[in-house]
Amino acid sequence: MSKGSPKKVVVVNGGPRKGWNTATLLDRAAEGAWDAGAEVERVELYDLDFKGCRSCFTCKTRGGKSYGRCALRDDLNPVLERIEAADALLIGSPIYFGSVTGETRSFLERLLFPFFTYTNPPESLLSRRISVGVIYTMNVEERQAEDMGYWNHLARTEGALERAFGSVERLASFDTLQFEDYTKVVADRFDPVHKRQRHDDVFPADCQKARELGERLVRAH
Ligand SMILES: Cc1cc2nc3c(=O)[nH]c(=O)nc-3n(C[C@H](O)[C@H](O)[C@H](O)COP(=O)(O)O)c2cc1C
Repeated sequence: MSKGSPKKVVVVNGGPRKGWNTATLLDRAAEGAWDAGAEVERVELYDLDFKGCRSCFTCKTRGGKSYGRCALRDDLNPVLERIEAADALLIGSPIYFGSVTGETRSFLERLLFPFFTYTNPPESLLSRRISVGVIYTMNVEERQAEDMGYWNHLARTEGALERAFGSVERLASFDTLQFEDYTKVVADRFDPVHKRQRHDDVFPADCQKARELGERLVRAH
């Protein structure tokens, strides 16, 4: 990229619901990046036809022409190529059973594995630095996420992203509104009044943090 041309940011939505919590925070983050002068591309993982890593090891084959690159051919390949050429990457996912969604996981396998060398110590084959932001949304409160050990697992994936790309910043939105109308679903565990209030009182601040994250990733690069 020549000096002075706009920074490129790829925003990946790893959640299935358009217009909901994860997508909204990614919208705000994208706006922040755009405000900082970046070109922003949005990817909806659930609109793509792709699979996770097949363990073919073509990306690890000595002297192979796909060394360091994913050789699978599906909808994800062009996305991976654009990420490799980007300055910043924003990944958003709802938390499903204590982790990112299956689609996000499959995407991360394909994104990360080709860059890691099976050398001692392991190295990243990516010569450039890409600033990464990860955004999670979840039903549990912050304290419960701690107590349930969510971060032990998520931090490991963030560590892999950091080793591959250089830096990772995390934003989490807790206790999200999951249903528009809680009377229509069997979900007595949740207090709909509290959920709506939290959405009105706290979620806007999370949106602001997402906007600042998007802006920071571009400016810091
Ligand atoms: C299949 C499934 C599993 C979920 N598992 C969890 C979980 O383990 N912990 C949690 O806090 N929330 C869980 N949730 C709630 C979502 O993480 C939460 O509603 C999130 O904000 C949804 O994001 P969205 O509004 O962008 O779709 C789960 C939701 C679904 C559909």
